[in-house]
This record gives sequence, structure tokens and C-alpha cells, in this order.
Amino acid sequence: MEIINLVELEALARARLPVSVFDYYASGADDEVTLRANRAAFERLAVHHRVLVDVSRRTTATTVLGHPVTSPILVAPTAFHGMACAEGELATARAASAAGTIMTLSSLSNTNVEEVAKASTTPLFFQLYVYRDRGATTALVRRVEAAGAKALVLTVDAPLLGRRERDVRNRFALPKGLFVRNMLAAGYGEVATEQPDSGLAAYFASLIDSSLSWTDIDWLRQLTRLPVVVKGIVRADDARRARDHGASAIVVSNHGGRQLDGSPATIDVLPRVADAVGDSVEIWLDGGVRRGTDVLKAIALGARAVLIGRPVLWGLALGGEQGARSVIDALQREFDVAMALSGCPSVAAITGDLIHP
Ligand SMILES: Cc1cc2nc3c(=O)[nH]c(=O)nc-3n(C[C@H](O)[C@H](O)[C@H](O)COP(=O)(O)O)c2cc1C
Repeated sequence: MEIINLVELEALARARLPVSVFDYYASGADDEVTLRANRAAFERLAVHHRVLVDVSRRTTATTVLGHPVTSPILVAPTAFHGMACAEGELATARAASAAGTIMTLSSLSNTNVEEVAKASTTPLFFQLYVYRDRGATTALVRRVEAAGAKALVLTVDAPLLGRRERDVRNRFALPKGLFVRNMLAAGYGEVATEQPDSGLAAYFASLIDSSLSWTDIDWLRQLTRLPVVVKGIVRADDARRARDHGASAIVVSNHGGRQLDGSPATIDVLPRVADAVGDSVEIWLDGGVRRGTDVLKAIALGARAVLIGRPVLWGLALGGEQGARSVIDALQREFDVAMALSGCPSVAAITGDLIHP
């Protein structure tokens, strides 16, 4: 599948998907200010490129949590890939593996974690939502461990769901035959229709634990030996606390503008977070990463890796596994060009002076 750039994929996918599916994938909360801000903030930053650096031999390779990856571009956890293509998360896992990178599987996948782990030839990370039913949550963690996942990414910016008005209007629900697979056994597999609201918002309100607090990071760390990654941080003090509670990595994220509208653009807060925690914990960032130069900017300002959400869904919608693979490859190629043109033969050469000379 030929991809010119990731930005135009959204319009191409829109033509392929049912309205309620497209809207669920594309939307942000409320006025979608933060959704737009993520992109705008990247576009405002300039890269002060270095010249006359030998870039004839260069590599985009790096590591995350010690795992080698082709480039610092990971796949963000996004729910319900079964709405984009028949193979669902299996297609995504195969695409990420083929591209030499790591997928983070959402708690809300349409495919069981065991099957996704089997389809992956690179490490798999798992994103965790903590259910009020801690027994069911614990059982899920045990399954994730047994499946061989290499990290738990705990999402902390979603005590309830942000109000995505497009989903309210569409009364969003899972299409027939699709379930929250991992939770089917626990009795939490259905995102019901006929809600006076988004079906997913109702699911969250009734099942997800909105009492989650810092002590629950300790609970999770005692529960598992997997590294815990805390996703959804935009403040320096929260970054420090996450580190102090033993997080192995933090994800600077506003959930792609889908939770608190008015939350700052992630690339704008990254320098503050990086200042606060230095190298004591890995910093990953997501939200609006669409260009190779966006990846470069995030690395320059202190991120170890970035994650992409929606573009992978557009790839799945347009071409299944091949589509998702093409999306990751296209961004990796752009990143390689961005490195060459800014005088960076390696990821380690991408330093803060490229943004603040
Ligand atoms: C359709 C969709 C579903 C998502 N589902 C989840 C989820 O289940 N768990 C989670 O932690 N984040 C979820 N996210 C947030 C992403 O992990 C990520 O933070 C965001 O998509 C990054 O922004 P981008 O889409 O602009 O790349 C979802 C995002 C989208 C677009």
C-alpha cells in the first residue's frame, strides 16, 4: 500500500468506515481543542538542523525498557481494532512485529491477549485499565503475564471517559459480534447498545475504578514483576511521583485529546517533565505524532520513544495488516530522512539544541 504521508490517511479512511466507527476513532472530547493542539504544537516547533555531519551511515535503532526496536516509534494502545479490519489486533501485532517495533495491546481489544502474543514476534506490551472488580483485574494481569507480555502500561488519565460528543450523537456501541474479549469470561465483555449516551462511556462509568490513586501503583507493583509504565502524565510533579512509586517509564499523554479537553499539548509539556525526572525513568510521548520531524522533536526534547494511535487504525481500515505495516514503515522512513537532514547519524545525536540552539 502506497502511503504519501500519515496526515492524509484520516480522510482516506473516512471514506471506508461506517460513520460511528470513524467518529469513535477520530474524535476528541468536547470541542476537540486538545486534539488540535497536539498537532499545532508540533508544527510551531522549528528544528535548527546541523550541517556538514557525515550521515552516510546512520541508524534509527534504539531500545525501550531494554528491548531493541528498529526506531523509537511504538504502537499506542487503542481499543477495538476489530472495527477496522476482520483480523483486528492480530493484524496490528503482525504489522508491528514485521516493522521491528512494539505494540501496546489495549485492555479493550477485540482479540484475546494470548492470541495477540502468539502473533507477535517482537515483545508485546499490555495496557491496563483497572476494573472496580479487583479480582477480575488481577486475573487479567495473570493472563497477561502468562501470555508473555513484557510490560504493563497503566492508563491513569481515564477515571471515566471524556465526553466525546460524536459518540454521544452516534450512541456508540460495539458492532454485533465484537466484544471486550479479555473480559468476556469475567462478564464484562459487552459494550451495550441502547444507552442514552456513548455505550463505552456507560461501560467505563459502571466498571472502571474511578478511585484509582497513587497507592494503586504500589498495589500493581506488588501484584506483578512486570515493569509498570504510567500513561497519561502532563505534569512535572506527577512525573516525579510516578518515578518515586517505581514506574519504569511514563507516557506523556493526553489520550490523544480524548479525555480532558483543554489539557496541554504533549510536546509543550515534555521539556518540563524531562527536566523533572531526567534519566531516572524512560519518557515516552504520544498525541499527534504524524511526521518524522515530530518524532525527532520529541526525542530532542527528552522522549526516549513516541507512540502512534490513530494512524495505525487508518492503516488497518485501508489495508489490514499490510496497511498498518505501511503506516509504521512510512513514519520510520520520514524519521530517517529527518535525522539525515538535521545532521543526526544516530538517535543519541538528537539533542535539545536542535530545538533550542
Ligand atoms: C480510537 C482510540 C482508542 C483508544 N483506546 C485507548 C485505550 O484503550 N487505552 C489507552 O490507554 N489509550 C487509548 N487511546 C489513546 C492512545 O493510546 C494514545 O494516547 C493516542 O491515540 C495518541 O494520540 P494519536 O492518536 O494522536 O496518535 C485510544 C485512542 C484512540 C484514538
